[in-house]
Amino acid sequence: MIKSEVETFRWNDSAQQFEMLDQLALPEIERFVPMHSVREIADAITNMLVRGAPAIGISAAYGIYYSARQNWQYADRLARIQADKSLLANTRPTAVNLFWALERMMKVVQAHIQDETPDAILDEAHKIWAEDVQMNQDMAEHGAKEIGNIPNILTHCNAGALATGGLGTALGVIRAIDMHMHEAGKSLHVWVDETRPYLQGARLTSWELMKDHIDCTLITDNMSAHLMKQGLVNAIIVGADRIAANYDIANKIGTYALAVLANYHHIPFYVAAPDSTFDPAIKSGDDIVIEERSNAEVVFVKGKRIAPEGVKTRHPAFDVTPHELITGIITPSGVIKPNKSK
Ligand code: MRU
Repeated sequence: MIKSEVETFRWNDSAQQFEMLDQLALPEIERFVPMHSVREIADAITNMLVRGAPAIGISAAYGIYYSARQNWQYADRLARIQADKSLLANTRPTAVNLFWALERMMKVVQAHIQDETPDAILDEAHKIWAEDVQMNQDMAEHGAKEIGNIPNILTHCNAGALATGGLGTALGVIRAIDMHMHEAGKSLHVWVDETRPYLQGARLTSWELMKDHIDCTLITDNMSAHLMKQGLVNAIIVGADRIAANYDIANKIGTYALAVLANYHHIPFYVAAPDSTFDPAIKSGDDIVIEERSNAEVVFVKGKRIAPEGVKTRHPAFDVTPHELITGIITPSGVIKPNKSK
């Protein structure tokens, strides 16, 4: 069993409350925020108090439970829960895990709409979380077996415990490799891309790896090509927000550039993702909706303006990496090689 000190969610059984680690306060402050309503959960997703595709899905599942609990007293409870489903669906567009969790939860809501209590809906949210924990463990083992013991891995954004209910996707694999290497008397080193403009790498991934005593070095995004050229990157591993039927993947902005660089330098490029990230309804990456976020996130860093007032900006929060550039997609049931048939 691979372990981590990082916890993203808590279920407070006595208060019957879902609690989230406040990712806006990290790395300075480590605090859990109890959720009181479905609206608070929707706001937490929109404001990125919680982020990362699987974590958004788990949060939305509890959001549906909160809605059920708030509305169970009403005869038109189903319509009210459906309205809250739309509220949750309108938070962030790219990670399919959100929509996957909402659909799964609504099936249970419909099947149990005549029950005395919404307990079956809470059970389903707990189940979604527990399955995510297990999928993370399984991906970690498959990924470690596939990649083996190598000195340097580079990762982008945060695809860690903070982005899931368990060990993380990419960082779960990194945790497993680190564990196996320690057992063999060796050590792993991780390059952490800072991940402009939202700085998930700097704020979250370096915090998370340091918390688990995994050797890491923070770099700005424009340093990776130089390190690759010097032979200091043996593999790249990232997460994904949506995987199309042809295995194109959407992930944090900057992922595509890394995949192109990896290809040029003949460095294996891996994506780790649970079942909930696959969207077979989408034929290729061209059909994935890319979230455009606020210009302020480009112009301000920690509240400080870094560009002239009135400057034009763009902020696509994700990009699409074509499957041709992907060495393997690490899933809970094994590694998919998108280009094997070619
Ligand atoms: O905008 P964010 O922070 O939600 O984006 C997160 C990512 O892009 C992650 O890499 C992705 O969700 C995979 S998380 C296991």
